[in-house]
Amino acid sequence: MNPATHVFGIESSCDETSCSVVADGRRVLSNVVASQIELHARFGGVVPEIASRAHIEAINPVIEKALRESGVGPGDIAAVAVTNEPGLIGSLLVGLMAAKTLAWVWDVPLIAVNHVYAHAYAAAMDAEPIEYPAAALICSGGHTALYRCESPTSLTLLGSTIDDAAGEAFDKVANILRLGYPGGPVIDRVSMQANPEAVSFPRSLLAGQSLDFSFSGLKTAVLYHVNGVPGAVRPNSRSRRGSRLADGRPHGIESFSSQEIADIAASFQAAVVDVLRIKLRRAAKQIGAKTLILGGGVAANTALRQAARQLAEKLHCSLRMPELHFCVDNAAMIAGLGYHYLQSGLTADYDLQAYATVRR
Ligand code: KG4
Ligand code: ZN
Repeated sequence: MNPATHVFGIESSCDETSCSVVADGRRVLSNVVASQIELHARFGGVVPEIASRAHIEAINPVIEKALRESGVGPGDIAAVAVTNEPGLIGSLLVGLMAAKTLAWVWDVPLIAVNHVYAHAYAAAMDAEPIEYPAAALICSGGHTALYRCESPTSLTLLGSTIDDAAGEAFDKVANILRLGYPGGPVIDRVSMQANPEAVSFPRSLLAGQSLDFSFSGLKTAVLYHVNGVPGAVRPNSRSRRGSRLADGRPHGIESFSSQEIADIAASFQAAVVDVLRIKLRRAAKQIGAKTLILGGGVAANTALRQAARQLAEKLHCSLRMPELHFCVDNAAMIAGLGYHYLQSGLTADYDLQAYATVRR
């Protein structure tokens, strides 16, 4: 065991408090995740103030557990890596303060890690090194972006969402369809027994060579499909379920059978996956990628993973998709990427700040 390779990672940018010990940038010795999903579920999304408080309560036990499960002691840790951007500012600050304290107490370097860059590295956790250059598609609840990756630490932004993130669209559409929170996993599940061609939803920003994304129009299209287009509603309808569409059909979520709701979910998912696949193909071709990378919570999506497999085969690229528990937020990817910054001597000072958005 070479202690100089052990990095302790801390992740608290959204609604997961996570700590991890990773050896050699890839071997995960522990990865403890305290999820807050239940706390936020009744609000249909993450409530920042609740998230910050829950991080404060969770951080110390999670630190202790991650260290205990790793089987190494504080004296074996070579550096403390922490997510300092982007994310919910109150949540980030909890992890950052914990990281500064540990780095100071253990007398090891502090390392700043960009959360989205870490998602692009997650596919290397407990796996082979990634072959570069790579086109990385990162889709989560807060981010949807394409990157050109030259190495774990060298990323160039190629395009990103101009409105909603893909995961956010999954969550909002699940809310419209009353499928529960978080929306991604449940839409993924119900879509397996449904018709993805039942409803023809729009595919946005496909013109030209754009690598940007837009999902808010798609979300609105689902809303209109379920509730009717506002201008097309007949106000004097006598339907017991409320108003009717212009063609006289009653609408509102109660008027759809569970199979119809699953079909809408599957059709929405197909529209998202189509756009993601097309943009990833464009990016890969533009940069001559050897590898396609998926990352972020939406990378757990069954249909997206299947589409990415077919795309990689067509482009003769290798495909790197993280194990499902490394798709969602976790500190292993933070510690793993932190190792590469440590190797390059890119350490941070104690005046390191947290940033809600990525600095350009
Ligand atoms: O990366 P992540 O854990 O947190 C952020 O950084 O945002 O991603 C969470 C997002 C949520 O929006 C969730 O609905 C989505 O990932 N998600 C999925 C699936 N599993 C999680 N979306 C589609 N299909 C899934 N199987
Ligand atoms: Zn994330």
